[in-house]
Amino acid sequence: MKVTVVGAGNVGATCANVLAHREIANEVVLLDIKDGYAEGKALDIWETSPINLYDSRMVGSTNDYSKTAGSEVVVITSGLPRKPGMSRDDLIATNAGIVKSVTEQAIKHSPDAKIVIVSNPLDVMTYAAYLTAKVDSRKVFGMAGVLDTARYRSFLATELNVSPKDIQAVLMGGHGDTMVPLPRYTTVAGIPVTELIAEEKLNAIIERTKKGGGEIVNLLGTSAWYAPGAAAAQMVEAIVRDQKRIFPSCAWLDGQYGLKDMYLGVPVKLGINGVEEIIELQLTDDEKALLYESANAVKEVMEVLDNMDLMKS
Ligand code: LAC
Repeated sequence: MKVTVVGAGNVGATCANVLAHREIANEVVLLDIKDGYAEGKALDIWETSPINLYDSRMVGSTNDYSKTAGSEVVVITSGLPRKPGMSRDDLIATNAGIVKSVTEQAIKHSPDAKIVIVSNPLDVMTYAAYLTAKVDSRKVFGMAGVLDTARYRSFLATELNVSPKDIQAVLMGGHGDTMVPLPRYTTVAGIPVTELIAEEKLNAIIERTKKGGGEIVNLLGTSAWYAPGAAAAQMVEAIVRDQKRIFPSCAWLDGQYGLKDMYLGVPVKLGINGVEEIIELQLTDDEKALLYESANAVKEVMEVLDNMDLMKS
């Protein structure tokens, strides 16, 4: 089983490292446009195999997509990361062109691949990949909810001083400051989180989660990679092992939640066929209002993409 990761920057290399280390694929192809970069990272990762005891093969390639042929999953991380003061939406002009060109080449060599988008602005880059790939929407989706819920769950684990393993949560909406963590669907070993934490503490954690990406950008001067890379690898695992895991993912909506013809974060079932099901929760009016606010924010950026000459060609 071959998995390709396009973009050997921090997020792509971290994702490839997790895929190899955990033997999620027996061949991991890391590809980048920068000469020698993917080869170097792939070699460095492969040199950890005797230490970490795995035999997944690592292949690095400078833009030779023939090496990616027949991939079960292609993870696209290419594009510029955020700098302090930038929103994810500020990246659209540069990253849309990159995502389009990468998707075209990747799908040419792996027409049956599931495509996982990680590039920002996430929801709209997933839409760009879908428009480019011209495949079933269940095969093109974005990684954001796994990362955003991981941040939310890690903050709760710290606050409650419990294992993050026991914290389960659902988060919906776009991968931006309007994302919608849902306390009603957050539990600690099955116990509703609202029974364990004061409302104002929980609200503060929700606010921190929404700005979780920005918190790291402000600390590091660039965007995060350990959690985004691991989150993308977890989605790949669910696909290649056909685990039917329920994850919040950026998926194409066709009427679910009253939303149509757009990508947005919703709970889905992920398996070998990609998004095998979109789970429709009965949201309260307040939750729905937050989801629609987030959907509108994503739609505005989708329109920017629709109006770009790039996507018309
Ligand atoms: C983040 C970037 C990867 O949230 O969007 O850290």
